[in-house]
Amino acid sequence: MSKTGINLAIFASGNGSNFAALIRAVRQRKVKASFVILVCDQPEAFVVERAKKAKVVVILVKREDFARREDFEAAIIQRLKYYKIDLIALAGFMRMLSPGFVKLYRNRIINIHPSLLPAFKGAHAIRDALAAKVDFTGVSVHFVDNQMDHGALILQKKIKIISTDTLDSLEKRIHALEHKLYPEAINKIL
Ligand code: GRF
Repeated sequence: MSKTGINLAIFASGNGSNFAALIRAVRQRKVKASFVILVCDQPEAFVVERAKKAKVVVILVKREDFARREDFEAAIIQRLKYYKIDLIALAGFMRMLSPGFVKLYRNRIINIHPSLLPAFKGAHAIRDALAAKVDFTGVSVHFVDNQMDHGALILQKKIKIISTDTLDSLEKRIHALEHKLYPEAINKIL
């Protein structure tokens, strides 16, 4: 049987709205993936429920179940190999991958971040941009390297911060843009 698309692993730890957007894009054939799995390190995360509902294979790997990070990652890598994963899309995965992992999947791990990188790295990028009173923030999709929220950019789009913006209103616009941009970024590199 000929392969019609990539095998995609989405790594997420939380809500999973980007996971849901990617699954929608795959199902609508806007992203050419023949197979998708979710890798999650938080069994209670809402993304797990979303994946089950969407009938996506869920790989749950808890860091606490392993003494060393290498063993935790080896367990993930074993599943990635089993499913012949071509591309890893981090979507709110709240862990840094080790240099060994990044090397193994060199140029095949991407991340989405809610700011115009290199500005506002870290877990509170939207809040930090609002607090800094910058005129623009945005969304970045980039290749993953050994530093947090760092690596060659694939796509970046701006959003204007307006004077009436609250964290909630800005978050809503950023997330809507993320859901559009992540599928586009994947198509760009395929
Ligand atoms: C997104 O803002 C993403 O850019 C960041 O983590 C958040 C995940 O949100 N890396 P969700 O779980 O996809 O809703």
